[in-house]
Amino acid sequence: MSANDKLQSQRDDPPSPIVGENLARIVLSLIFPVLSAIGLGLSFLPSPYENKSPNLAFGPVNFAGHSNWVFRDDVAAAQVVLSSGHSSTEPARFITAFPHGNTGTLAYFRPVNNPLGVTLASGSLSSVSGEHGQVGITGVLEASGDFDFGVTILGSVRAVRDYVEGGGVLHPEFEHSVAERNDSSVTFRRSWLHGDVVQYLRFDAEANAAIRLSTSWPPVVGVTRLQSARNATLRFTTTFNFTSSTAPRGLSPAELFVKSDASTPAVLASVLKAIKYKAHDVTQQLVFLSYSDLFLAGGWRFLTYFGRDTLITLKLLLPVLSPEATEGILAAVIQRIGPNGEICHEETVGDYASFLNIRNGKPELGTTPVYDYAMVDTDFLLLPVLADYFLTSAGKARKAAFLARKSTLVPGSFEELVRRNAKRVLNLTASFPHDHSVDNLIPIRAYPVGNWRDSHAGLGWGHYPFDLNCPLFLAAPLAIGDVLPDLYQQNTRRPSQSNGCDLFQVTVTPEAAEASLAQYIERANLPSSLLYGAGSLNSTGTPSAGWSAPNQTIGGDGTSTIYALSIVDADDRSTVNVLNSDIAYTLAYDTVSSPTELRATVEALQPYPRGLLTNVGMVVASAAYDTNATRTKEFSNLAYHGAVAWSWQQALMAAGLSKQLSKCGLSNNTETALPPPPLELDQLPPAWCNDTQLVESLQQAQTRLWDSIAGSESVLYTEVWSPVFNAAKGKFDIGDLGAISPDGTEGDAFQLWSYAFLGLVDPRTSRPVAASFVRPSSTL
Ligand SMILES: *[C@@H]1O[C@H](CO)[C@@H](O)[C@H](O)[C@H]1NC(C)=O
Ligand SMILES: *[C@@H]1O[C@H](CO)[C@@H](O)[C@H](O)[C@H]1NC(C)=O
Ligand SMILES: *[C@@H]1O[C@H](CO)[C@@H](O)[C@H](O)[C@H]1NC(C)=O
Ligand SMILES: *[C@@H]1O[C@H](CO)[C@@H](O)[C@H](O)[C@H]1NC(C)=O
Ligand SMILES: *[C@@H]1O[C@H](CO)[C@@H](O)[C@H](O)[C@H]1NC(C)=O
Ligand SMILES: *[C@@H]1O[C@H](CO)[C@@H](O)[C@H](O)[C@H]1NC(C)=O
Ligand SMILES: *[C@@H]1O[C@H](CO)[C@@H](O)[C@H](O)[C@H]1NC(C)=O
Ligand SMILES: *[C@@H]1O[C@H](CO)[C@@H](O)[C@H](O)[C@H]1NC(C)=O
Ligand SMILES: *[C@@H]1O[C@H](CO)[C@@H](O)[C@H](O)[C@H]1NC(C)=O
Repeated sequence: MSANDKLQSQRDDPPSPIVGENLARIVLSLIFPVLSAIGLGLSFLPSPYENKSPNLAFGPVNFAGHSNWVFRDDVAAAQVVLSSGHSSTEPARFITAFPHGNTGTLAYFRPVNNPLGVTLASGSLSSVSGEHGQVGITGVLEASGDFDFGVTILGSVRAVRDYVEGGGVLHPEFEHSVAERNDSSVTFRRSWLHGDVVQYLRFDAEANAAIRLSTSWPPVVGVTRLQSARNATLRFTTTFNFTSSTAPRGLSPAELFVKSDASTPAVLASVLKAIKYKAHDVTQQLVFLSYSDLFLAGGWRFLTYFGRDTLITLKLLLPVLSPEATEGILAAVIQRIGPNGEICHEETVGDYASFLNIRNGKPELGTTPVYDYAMVDTDFLLLPVLADYFLTSAGKARKAAFLARKSTLVPGSFEELVRRNAKRVLNLTASFPHDHSVDNLIPIRAYPVGNWRDSHAGLGWGHYPFDLNCPLFLAAPLAIGDVLPDLYQQNTRRPSQSNGCDLFQVTVTPEAAEASLAQYIERANLPSSLLYGAGSLNSTGTPSAGWSAPNQTIGGDGTSTIYALSIVDADDRSTVNVLNSDIAYTLAYDTVSSPTELRATVEALQPYPRGLLTNVGMVVASAAYDTNATRTKEFSNLAYHGAVAWSWQQALMAAGLSKQLSKCGLSNNTETALPPPPLELDQLPPAWCNDTQLVESLQQAQTRLWDSIAGSESVLYTEVWSPVFNAAKGKFDIGDLGAISPDGTEGDAFQLWSYAFLGLVDPRTSRPVAASFVRPSSTL
């Protein structure tokens, strides 16, 4: 069921009180429009800026049933998302989302009789500016049928998300009025909660359309076509005047990527060339999320600062990003560090900041941004990538000046703020080395959220996540040695046993594995053929050369190792035995301390459900080995952090594997262009490089992973999708999670950390991903 279906069924079924009340008020305001003078003044005045040439104008980018367009120039930046209805009752949906103030609008168009198609006329988007500092965008919609306006929201993208994802919750604070209506125009207007910011959404009939009140009771505003055989053409215009805050300055592709010169290593040069000449469309999407002082996490739902997303993106894209872009991301994070060294997870700006400030009993703060520090994993993500950057030649040269910068958002220099975070990391990790007990692990701070699997059940309801307590627990303190050497005298950089990995280790015997798998296949309604041969990877024809049927038992003793997703809590110390992809952090953040971690990686990279790989991408969790049947459902392919594919996790796994193989001289990827850590010890191949069986298994796992990734090419830069088994075809299809999941969590078409793939090379072909995939030769 899609969010739209849900909306519809809520109209048919008893509506939630807030929706019902709200609809009634909207209906009333549509009948008795507020005819007060509004001074919209949208006369399409020339821009106050000299350079009005569009920096970005692209679309449609189609994902999960939604069509996305982007426009950006010196006046305004926005994403437009349109979704047609597919039945005579399903409404079409129209969203605009601006990075500035995370401002947006949502309007549902309810079809009058036939399924309603809506689209944006090609090339019609432009920016507008008018009196009172009103700026925004305008464009032309083509609608294939008559419609009535349904729920309409003006305000924050967060308010729109609350409504779309929260099953139709609209806080009464976000109601608006219809400011004006006549036969050719209707204007919705809303005053923000604080200050005198006013936001408008206006529709003007351009051709074959009249704006009218329906004859039904209660009457609502709608659009009627004058000739029923033709489309209605409508111009929409949406503006707001959030003049107390400056819109961020967008980066150009030239500013975003490092420049190649004669000294650039060949593999990096080839990736940069592919980005420049072969990845124009994808690069534009990334550019839309890139601003001089912060990067946005994703569009349309996350057009704001998110610490984790930006830091992981930087970790993976560091070889290809310019120092200016790198420092933009780092500065955004450092400038928002909290008083106790916590790293900001999410920044709320604009009207929703007022909403939160009011709720927090501080209405006088107005639109002052609200910083959320709930995510403890994020505290551990800055230092490792800062260390990586300071090892590059540009980073080395710019380090002193960068650390001397003063934060413009919180008091302190960058160095003071980073030091505060480093002290926090040292404090949180101080006890465990002396006593390897669950009590000394780091719990999530704001249970049940705390790491990237923040969807409650996504961590199996555990308090101690693996990613935080195994890889990141080690990576962040070790990095302090390179960032603030005085603070961390004992920088050995050698992974020691002083992290919690062992406590998450779960051993599975072959008998137990087969029994669990057989039960899981039944519960998950999958065919048992997936357990044999190439299983879930046997679909796109013959799998790539270089790997044979998986062998679970590379450890030699017949057992397999899983690193549990989490540990429940200090009382119930059981592990949540859900196979998961977070082992990728261990590889990418370079904290491998035992070959067991590498063997577990090989085992995780088997075809699903033995492992995580499907023909349409790697899933991030599988409850196939968990004997607790409840978890089959909690980690199904309908769950936001279940057996679904997140592109950035694929990228983290891919980058991590190649980083580890590079230690044995077996990688040809961009991370080899980064300088190795300074201590000589680290430059020696680790002992496991001599274990040829393990190394070959890792290389085969790498090939399997990339076969799986290549099957997700059409959605590679999006946020999340659901592999759905198609029994007729005997393989997985790419499913629209938003449409099929009970909570309707729809993925973003553009997701910052998924663009990490722009910096990677497909090891099967030595071809940059930016140049698109080609099928590798096959010998099977
Ligand atoms: C009419 O509108 C539909 C739906 O938006 C669109 O697909 C179609 O291309 C439009 N036709 C014309 C002639 O513009
Ligand atoms: C915003 O625009 C409205 C009219 O559209 C105007 O009344 C108001 O004063 C403006 N606010 C600011 C901050 O300019
Ligand atoms: C309808 O309203 C719009 C917006 O206020 C105005 O520009 C237009 O002149 C009006 N048209 C008529 C026919 O009154
Ligand atoms: C960590 O910081 C807290 C709060 O300042 C303090 O109570 C605690 O003793 C510190 N822990 C260690 C191991 O230093
Ligand atoms: C792949 O599937 C085909 C058709 O079902 C089957 O004949 C073949 O044995 C399978 N191959 C592998 C390697 O699993
Ligand atoms: C898997 O590897 C083990 C150990 O190398 C070996 O004994 C076993 O026969 C292999 N199993 C298969 C199915 O290849
Ligand atoms: C099974 O999992 C559910 C939900 O994850 C949990 O509430 C329950 O306690 C678990 N049961 C056992 C026996 O661990
Ligand atoms: C790996 O094998 C080589 C050649 O046999 C040997 O020189 C080297 O010391 C071994 N390395 C480790 C870390 O065991
Ligand atoms: C390394 O990758 C580059 C392009 O990504 C390719 O041109 C080159 O042939 C590769 N080298 C090897 C040894 O595979």
